Amino acid sequence: LTRGTAAPDLTGRHVVVSAGGTREPLDPVRYLGNRSSGKQGYALARAAAARGARVTLVEANTGIPDPAGVDVVHVGTAVQLREAVLKAVSDADAVVMAAAVADFRPAVYATGKIKKKDDGGAPTVELVRNPDILAEISADRALPGQVVVGFAAETDDVLAHGREKLRRKGCDLLVVNEVGERKTFGSEENEAVVLASDGAETPVPYGPKEALAETVWDLVVPRLRATT
Ligand code: CTP
Ligand code: CA
Repeated sequence: LTRGTAAPDLTGRHVVVSAGGTREPLDPVRYLGNRSSGKQGYALARAAAARGARVTLVEANTGIPDPAGVDVVHVGTAVQLREAVLKAVSDADAVVMAAAVADFRPAVYATGKIKKKDDGGAPTVELVRNPDILAEISADRALPGQVVVGFAAETDDVLAHGREKLRRKGCDLLVVNEVGERKTFGSEENEAVVLASDGAETPVPYGPKEALAETVWDLVVPRLRATT
């Protein structure tokens, strides 16, 4: 397959992409968030649509306009993202979890704004774990042969962390980015290695997020279940 030719190799397929970063509210004016821009997820959604797929994009807090020809579901929190993804994947051929899902949320949502006290102290915020959506959809495939793809941003021994995460999550492909100065957050470019559960490892050179998106679909297509 050649990159960027928009071969219609996803025609008749339904794919689900999550994008952006969840925000976990603490009180009416504050949240715990992360720095995911959502650009990689949008590039994946646009590329799949150009390759003929019906695309559901589950978006969290990106502020990016809805791409033409893509069904967009807007969510805020990890729990909402889980609900929307589980609903969308019921008839999906493939799902790509590009969203940065908060690992924790405040245990309690304060319905009124948290105020400072006169004693000069600061509150302690208790956190609880969010559900692991990628692990859940990998373990309970909604359809036999559904292809599940995860993303991971790592530091230090990036490949070792990636291989371990691929096993732990149970997905078919894991796109591993190295987090560094010019890399990943808010940037237009990305560099990655795509690890596959069959042991294949595909390096993707530093370049536009559109190129990484095409490579991900190039790796998904041969893994899709045969159609009748
Ligand atoms: N993910 C998810 N649900 C979560 C956390 C992560 O579905 N609660 C997905 C992300 O969308 C991504 C993949 O899992 O595709 C890897 O996310 P990452 O944060 O790297 O994995 P974690 O298991 O949370 O590991 P870490 O402790 O390194 O953050
Ligand atoms: Ca995490």
